[in-house]
Amino acid sequence: MKKLIKNNISWVGKVDWELETIHGEEYSTKKGSTYNAYLVQEEKTVLIDTVQTLFAEEFVDNLDKEVGLDNIDFIIANHGEVDHSGALPALMKRIPGKPIYCTANAVKSLKGQYHQDWNFQVVKTGDKIDIGNGKSLIFIEMPMLHWPDSMATYMTEDNVLFSNDAFGQHFATEKIFNDLVDHCELSNEALKYYSNILTPFSAILRKKLNEIISFNLPIDIIATSHGVVWRDNPMQIVEKYIQWSNDYMENQITIVYDTMWNCTRTMAERIAEGIELADPEVVVKVYNLSKNDINDVIMEVFKSKMVVLGSPTVVSGIIHGIAGFIQMMKEMKFKGKKATSFGCYGWSGESVKVMNELLTDAGFDVFDEGIRSQWNPDEDAEAAIVEFGKKIALTD
Ligand code: FEO
Repeated sequence: MKKLIKNNISWVGKVDWELETIHGEEYSTKKGSTYNAYLVQEEKTVLIDTVQTLFAEEFVDNLDKEVGLDNIDFIIANHGEVDHSGALPALMKRIPGKPIYCTANAVKSLKGQYHQDWNFQVVKTGDKIDIGNGKSLIFIEMPMLHWPDSMATYMTEDNVLFSNDAFGQHFATEKIFNDLVDHCELSNEALKYYSNILTPFSAILRKKLNEIISFNLPIDIIATSHGVVWRDNPMQIVEKYIQWSNDYMENQITIVYDTMWNCTRTMAERIAEGIELADPEVVVKVYNLSKNDINDVIMEVFKSKMVVLGSPTVVSGIIHGIAGFIQMMKEMKFKGKKATSFGCYGWSGESVKVMNELLTDAGFDVFDEGIRSQWNPDEDAEAAIVEFGKKIALTD
């Protein structure tokens, strides 16, 4: 259903309440998501982005009812990923030959995925299209935010930035606007989205945000491709992105572990006690990786100044879930975070050494050799583990 955004701009996307994961199983979407497409009806009628493949026919049929497909003058594909381009094949079957404005890299991603020679019109930063009534669309390339093909589109006079994935959240709502939803839920989903998707590109993002700010474009609305449209103080999410992209951390220590017979769990809990005893100001959080959502745990690591990782020794190595988690943290390219590790063992006890090496390779500052406990920690061992917690809490 078409919903008014501002003047002659409408939302024509799809709310996906049932979505449980996106990017395969890589990102959990416990609050669903939306695929936001927009229709601009000035002297020119412009469709900005589409929806994911599953909803292609529904999307095209709705669009036909709302506007008449033949009345669309051209399409803007801000990004080629399937959640935004998935309805293009169904749409272009009905209106072949209509121009699709996109970056040179989006021609590659769209051709690569759909094997169609549509009427691509390549645009670069600063290119402008007059859409009548004194209004224009200006393109801003956003390479690596988060694909090489990404771009944003700015509409003059109405001052709307169609930012695509940037500033989005996987958050299903019928309310459309940020001021109509629960602020805590929205903030959490925006942070989860940034920390899991955009963290690797923080340095690029910092430059791009500065570039956009230097254009001095008035921005009244940021219309993202997922979640809410930011109309109430839209710059609040830009300010958050500036903070988050600057090696963000809070006064938090996060302990992440997995365990086989609860010995490493006992260690995790004693370390948390020690941290709390030594520094009541620091937020300490403890996650059994097997029992928590990995994307939520990545978000907690994003917020942390220190990560303490635990695994028992398993066949001279570590639990595979912890190994995968370190790989995930490596891909995030976290900067400026400290780390150490702990783990129980029965015989050889390599896990702490293995984790420290992997953490170093993942870009963490491994400031302490960590702590091991043979078999189930006894009273003396538990006291030593509490002391370890105190020591790491007091590390600058
Ligand atoms: Fe929402 Fe990169 O697609």
